Amino acid sequence: MSAACDRAGGAEQRRAVLAGLAGRVIEVGAGNGGMFAHYPPAVTEVLAVEPEPRMRAAAVAAAAGAPVPVRVVDGLADALPAGDGEFDAAVAALVLCTVPDQATALAEIRRVLRPGGGLRFFEHVAAEPGALRRVQRIVDATVWPRLLGGCHTGRDTAAAIAAAGFDIDEIERFRFPDAGLPGPAAPHIRGRATRPA
Ligand SMILES: C[S@@+](CC[C@H](N)C(=O)[O-])C[C@H]1O[C@@H](n2cnc3c(N)ncnc32)[C@H](O)[C@@H]1O
Repeated sequence: MSAACDRAGGAEQRRAVLAGLAGRVIEVGAGNGGMFAHYPPAVTEVLAVEPEPRMRAAAVAAAAGAPVPVRVVDGLADALPAGDGEFDAAVAALVLCTVPDQATALAEIRRVLRPGGGLRFFEHVAAEPGALRRVQRIVDATVWPRLLGGCHTGRDTAAAIAAAGFDIDEIERFRFPDAGLPGPAAPHIRGRATRPA
């Protein structure tokens, strides 16, 4: 899935979401390490948190070839293995669809960021009201979370980020991939938010 995502333009999305990052970064739900190759050189360390053992092993392998130092650890977004205010930035890519409770995960991300620290996000989200939104409701109530490790298609992640106390500085809404019939996970957001100082 990760390779297919990159072929459809995911690599460009990953580069864009990480552009300009610097200092210490925590990446939540790092998966197989698909982001690692795209961290800019001003990043001094990435703490990559991934709970699933096979994904984590793949992330450890990806970390070895990363352009910046990456430390991969076990852990959950809901209880991040890090102290208060430790990080300059946090990255959430295609994970806030899956965490059991977005408010808890976002409160944790906010906790580990220093005041003024930034959250970068790239997530699939709820569609605008209409046919696709109705499809999302149906798949979320039936097969989707069971087939895809708890993933939900119909979450209003931008609203959750704002409700968690972040200022949203920049947000783009788009369909990804942008070819073919839009699937339930097609509506995406990518952007930057700040933990207020
Ligand atoms: C769709 S993958 C995305 C991986 C990666 N961020 C990327 O962009 O390729 C979602 C990842 O979130 C992880 N995950 C699921 N529940 C989580 C939780 N509660 N806390 C942290 N990570 C979680 C999964 O194990 C999986 O590796």
